[in-house]
Amino acid sequence: MDIKHYDAIGHTPALRLAVRCWHELLEAGLIDDGGIAVGWDHKAIVAFAEGGTPIGVLTWTNQDWANQLHVALAYVIPQHRRQGVHTAMWHALVAKAVELKRPVIASSTSLGNLASRQMMAAQGREETGVVTRYRVVVP
Ligand SMILES: CC(C)(COP(=O)(O)OP(=O)(O)OC[C@H]1O[C@@H](n2cnc3c(N)ncnc32)[C@H](O)[C@@H]1OP(=O)(O)O)[C@@H](O)C(=O)NCCC(=O)NCCS
Repeated sequence: MDIKHYDAIGHTPALRLAVRCWHELLEAGLIDDGGIAVGWDHKAIVAFAEGGTPIGVLTWTNQDWANQLHVALAYVIPQHRRQGVHTAMWHALVAKAVELKRPVIASSTSLGNLASRQMMAAQGREETGVVTRYRVVVP
């Protein structure tokens, strides 16, 4: 497996995979349509199978103001899951945080996304809070 960093996601294999992630999670009810698939400041790590096919993406931002990196989304195509693809991208992000001297990598996921939560726990990422949402009735 090859791992590659991109400073932006336009015109890279990261874009399609990020949109695929967003669509899969939306269809599964694991995000709502307030989620942002792609942001102007997203950077990416992409995993490639032997032969060069892109099989996984992790998008992130460098939050200067908070002295941390923030994960926007992560996705591995279904036929390549449970083979350590995400973990390889995660290690590349941790190395990037060390390079940039950022002491924290923040992220969030849905309570119902058990695969994601178990993956985060397996990687030593702590659950630190609960995100709430109040539906405002707008006439
Ligand atoms: C979550 C996701 C990125 C994991 O990618 P992956 O490449 O399969 O993860 P890894 O193979 O590196 O898994 C590492 C560890 O995480 C845990 N894990 C991963 N997927 C799991 C699952 N479905 N159920 C339980 N534990 C899981 C395991 O401990 C695993 O180690 P093991 O396989 O040796 O038991 C992938 O399932 C995915 O793309 N899901 C849809 C998108 C998504 O939910 N993204 C996260 C929110 S943005």
